[in-house]
Amino acid sequence: MADIEQEKVVGVLNRILEAELAGVVRYTHYSFLVFGFGRIPIVSWLREQANESLLHAHQAGEWITTLGAYPSLGIGELLDVHTTDIGAILRESLATEQQALEAYRELLTLVEGRSVALEEYARQLIQLEELHAGEVEKMLRKPGVAVAGQAGKG
Ligand SMILES: [Fe+2]
Repeated sequence: MADIEQEKVVGVLNRILEAELAGVVRYTHYSFLVFGFGRIPIVSWLREQANESLLHAHQAGEWITTLGAYPSLGIGELLDVHTTDIGAILRESLATEQQALEAYRELLTLVEGRSVALEEYARQLIQLEELHAGEVEKMLRKPGVAVAGQAGKG
């Protein structure tokens, strides 16, 4: 890993760590605010996302110490949409997940061709985060709408 720009890579990894920790808090918080017929599957989906964000935070933190640096104790931005509207919760989650995805893409450009392991890690996370975003986008479509871009606004 001699030729990676250590400081830049650690900087992005710390941003990823903070974003994933914010995800843990955000998904957990929203899981308390789901009411109605769909409550049980939606609550368990939100808690799965919280667990997945925690796993991703662990991975980023482990990379930081592997690189001999100090992991941030900070947490990414937390917005509270103050709503129990599932659509609003999902749209907010999608927007913040996009920011995490951008950070993983930034990581990939920094390590591409320089560290096989970090490159593999960044690619895997980009794949997972893109699949996740696709899943949320589908949840935002109105039932019966099979074409993207016609996602329901409510
Ligand atoms: Fe994640």
